[in-house]
Amino acid sequence: MDTQALRKKYLDFFVARGHAAIPSASLVPENDPTTLFTGSGMQPLLPYLLGERHPKGTRLTDSQKSFRAEDIEEVGDNRHTTFFEMLGNWSLGDYFKQEQLPWFFEFLTKEVGLDPNKLYVTVFDGAEDIGVPRDEESIEIWRRLFGETGISNGFQEVGSEENGYKKGMEDGARIFSYDAKKNWWSRSGVPDNMPVGEPGGPDSEVFYDFETEHDSSWGEHCHPNCDCGRFLEIGNSVFMEYTKTGKGFEKLAQKNVDFGGGLERIAAASANESDMFLAVDSLSNVIKHLEEASNKYYKDDLKSFRIIADHLRGAVFMISDGVRPSNTEQGYFARRLLRRSVQYADTLGIQEGTLVEAVAIITDTYKDHYPELEERRTEIERAVGDEEARFRATLKRGLSKLEKVMLKHEGEVGNQKEFEKAIPANEVFEVITSDGFPKELVAEILEEHGTKTEWKEVEALILEHKAKSRAGAEQKFKGGLADHSNATTQLHTAHHLLLKALQIVLGGHVKQRGSNITGERLRIDFSHHEKLSDEQKAEVERIVNDQIQAKLPVLKTTLPRREAEALGAEQEFGQKYPDIVNVYSIGPAGASPDDPRLDESFSLEFCGGPHVSNTGEIQGVFRIKKEKASSAEVRRIRGVLE
Ligand code: SER
Repeated sequence: MDTQALRKKYLDFFVARGHAAIPSASLVPENDPTTLFTGSGMQPLLPYLLGERHPKGTRLTDSQKSFRAEDIEEVGDNRHTTFFEMLGNWSLGDYFKQEQLPWFFEFLTKEVGLDPNKLYVTVFDGAEDIGVPRDEESIEIWRRLFGETGISNGFQEVGSEENGYKKGMEDGARIFSYDAKKNWWSRSGVPDNMPVGEPGGPDSEVFYDFETEHDSSWGEHCHPNCDCGRFLEIGNSVFMEYTKTGKGFEKLAQKNVDFGGGLERIAAASANESDMFLAVDSLSNVIKHLEEASNKYYKDDLKSFRIIADHLRGAVFMISDGVRPSNTEQGYFARRLLRRSVQYADTLGIQEGTLVEAVAIITDTYKDHYPELEERRTEIERAVGDEEARFRATLKRGLSKLEKVMLKHEGEVGNQKEFEKAIPANEVFEVITSDGFPKELVAEILEEHGTKTEWKEVEALILEHKAKSRAGAEQKFKGGLADHSNATTQLHTAHHLLLKALQIVLGGHVKQRGSNITGERLRIDFSHHEKLSDEQKAEVERIVNDQIQAKLPVLKTTLPRREAEALGAEQEFGQKYPDIVNVYSIGPAGASPDDPRLDESFSLEFCGGPHVSNTGEIQGVFRIKKEKASSAEVRRIRGVLE
């Protein structure tokens, strides 16, 4: 069964059981600045799990486009992909375990036709510290379902993953209980990591057994959660009925089911094919095309074929959702995917133009369910083609530099011209850093020409270079704020007020992209696509000055990063924060260090300070002096206190 047919079968199955089919949300999350991409089905539905009414009712089903940037480097084995579709069915305070588990079981065994003998399931073992017991109800349901098919239905308590590797699987065991690391689901993982207000709950996963040999480098014995490749998780029913509060875990107002199933993983199980790149039509079609274009076989260079197929598909979906290759945010990932594709296409000896042809194959595969691909076909092909051309120009410049360097180190050996045994590391480093010429390529070219370089030294130079540019950036930042003069501190607090005012007037898409403060003026770069009108500028000034006049307390609070994120605190773009962070809040009136009332503040930002302790200390009236474009989609404002 191809994945397009499988998706339809799943949606139809749940529509027949009273669900409304809803379209996938965009890969670029709306109103959620904490993540660059939608990475699971529940992200866009969060408000409804928390109690907001969904216009389509309490039973929903969908297939959500998802992208996990953190997996880019993992692509190359038989299962990792950056883009995937998550099948979902949702009970928003409607049905619960008694319906969910039998339905999913029926779907897998009757509709997809999987042999129940090849299915193993896990449930939550319970956790005393949060007062949630073992999920006996799910155990009973699974025992009944497997029992009815006449096969073994034993239960085995596992607990931790380590225990699983130690004990292995008992004879006849079908249902296994694991601790919260494996069978509790929330956006932030285990209960300990959840911020206050976050929903979560026990889950029950279904695994497909490919019956491959256990690889003991993972652990002594195999068990459903073993990573050796024998078992593949194909679906997860989350019973989302808890939320974390200041005092521990409490039940949500409604019991929800959040089911997420990997469309392609179910396809792989249905084909009994553990290689996702062969089991999934959109990937295998691209691979076939690449085989023809390169005159090479997939099996001879699995990694290159897999990377190109995965990356191109991810880029196509991103571009169809409005992302364009660039150096920032989502665009950075689109660029990275495409440049890696070109690089591996070169490894396979594939001609320019082949990738754009592969884009057409991807579009054709998906266009019925995702009409945005067809609607933007030309745009997508152009974006991919342009990026390939740009990258190839970079490669060409790098290559000619490298050739010059090599020629410098050519000598006569006997009557023959030959390159010296090694090219100096600093010259290789120059080629790599000046143009962004990929290291791996340099290594290959040197090898082809029978020479090499001292790579350890090159790496050291690259690290040093990175450290220097980072220090430079910190210096620049300090340039404003290391100067703790009174005037600078006042402008720094005004800067926080200004960012918030811009968001109020222009919209939530406004994010800080850069800043610089001296004793005379502040400067902020922020994301916005057009010039501000005089009215908008006046409104922004008015909001800032109102907060100054309101004499609001300015407080510094230290708290876990996740809590700060959950409160929606502004982060500096591109910054990685430690687990414990400082935030500065401005307002509300009456807030104090003992009771900072962060959720009611006017402005809340990740920040090290310093700031005035009350906006009333800001002297003068805030004025915007200049407003102009700083780069595409980024505006720059200079402001002063007069
Ligand atoms: N939220 C769960 C997951 O992403 C199930 O949809 O795995």
